[in-house]
Parts: sequence; structure tokens; C-alpha cells
Amino acid sequence: MPEFITVARVGEIPEGRGRTFAVGGQTVAVFRVNGDYFALDDFCPHMGASLGTGDVCDGAVVCDRHLWAFNLSDGVCREAPTMKAQTFDVRVQGDEIQVGVTTGAG
Ligand code: FES
Repeated sequence: MPEFITVARVGEIPEGRGRTFAVGGQTVAVFRVNGDYFALDDFCPHMGASLGTGDVCDGAVVCDRHLWAFNLSDGVCREAPTMKAQTFDVRVQGDEIQVGVTTGAG
């Protein structure tokens, strides 16, 4: 079971953009699109660039380094579908945006 950790409050992630957060020993990029939230590992599976700074377009984030697109919903790379960024569950509790991570603790 993932543990949900608060990373931000509603309104702190601009519509159509991402922000990165340290969560459970990882860096997670959280995006807001049409009011919904998505979370991907901030580490691009191609060559490790940050995904959190990429532009969001048509349900995907476009990595800044080589402009490959990764679906926000499942992390699959549109240019190379065998490549996939790790995804995380996101929920909103009250005004807190929370990311589900497995911490290994407990
Ligand atoms: S490092 Fe992200 S597409 Fe190459």
C-alpha cells in the first residue's frame, strides 16, 4: 500500500504546468491538467532529464532535452512505447495534494 504524502496545496501548481517535489526519497513531478493531477518520476527514462520542467501538451509532458513525450496517465513514451516513466497515484484531500509512494518503512 502506498503512503500518501502531502506535497502542495491546491492552487500551488499552475494549470498546464508541473512542479517537482522530494517525496519518499524520490523526486516526483506533479502536473495539473484541466483540474486533474498526475505524478511521474522526475527522472526521464531516456537519459535522465527532469520531466517536471517540460511543457504539457495533449495529455503528455514533453521532455526538455530531446522533446520526447510521456503520457501523464501511464508514463508511456509516445516515441518509444517500450520506455515508460514511473507513475504515482495522486489524490486531493481537502486542499492538500498528496502523492502515493511506497516508502519501505513500517
Ligand atoms: S532525456 Fe528525456 S527525452 Fe531524452
